[in-house]
Amino acid sequence: MNEFVVEEFSKMLSRIAKIPLVSSHPEVYEPCDDSFALVDALLADRTNMLQQKPSICMEIGCGSGYVITSLAVMLGDEGFVPYYIATDINPHAIRVTRETMDAHGVYAELVNTDITSGLEKRLARSVDVLVVNPPYVPTPEDEVGFEGITSAWAGGENGRSVIDKILPAANNLLSEKGWLYMVTLTANKPSEICLEMRKKGYASRIILQRSTEEESLHIIKFWRDSDSHLELKNLSYWSKLVGN
Ligand SMILES: C[S@@+](CC[C@H](N)C(=O)[O-])C[C@H]1O[C@@H](n2cnc3c(N)ncnc32)[C@H](O)[C@@H]1O
Repeated sequence: MNEFVVEEFSKMLSRIAKIPLVSSHPEVYEPCDDSFALVDALLADRTNMLQQKPSICMEIGCGSGYVITSLAVMLGDEGFVPYYIATDINPHAIRVTRETMDAHGVYAELVNTDITSGLEKRLARSVDVLVVNPPYVPTPEDEVGFEGITSAWAGGENGRSVIDKILPAANNLLSEKGWLYMVTLTANKPSEICLEMRKKGYASRIILQRSTEEESLHIIKFWRDSDSHLELKNLSYWSKLVGN
């Protein structure tokens, strides 16, 4: 590796949460391929986020706190200080996220709730960056909503049960300039998700695609698009691209 590559690599590492400082608990989802893909996508979009100057950044389903901490670290020291807020349905995740954030010297308001329940009114149309790595694994419907670690992955039919509740919540929370970054699997039918969001007036783009041994992950970015029409031609092209 030449000096430039080493320098860029260490700069990149200094802009995300440090794994040894990420707290853990047996009932809390540890950072995994999907968490890393989401953080890599956010890092790749960091310059755009700095230009957007978000006032409120939010994560739904913070788990260990790896993603929201990385976001706070990568946007830190840039002359503006966004307010960070994160939710999780698992109370252990809230405590673990607090520890992870403390270890990195960053702060977020942490709320133990179902998706964004209780926050909709206060945060309506005011979130500029919303990040979500939802429970997306297709499972029987009755596995969704269990307490503890099961809630980290159980996604019901097509892995869409929680995702389909997050989409209207995101629409309610996102500001005019707001962006949603969401992890999906091919099994979640991402083109359908984009169509749903298109109907609500959002454009979308896959900003990162990564295949692991077990799954094919897409990180999709959504933003409000005032010229949004149902561009079915584009959507069918998109469907072919992601294979559904
Ligand atoms: C795949 S894990 C992601 C954790 C972390 N964001 C990451 O990327 O490593 C999904 C997280 O969503 C949380 N979760 C599941 N259902 C939820 C709901 N209805 N409301 C809020 N959080 C939820 C789980 O407890 C879990 O922490």
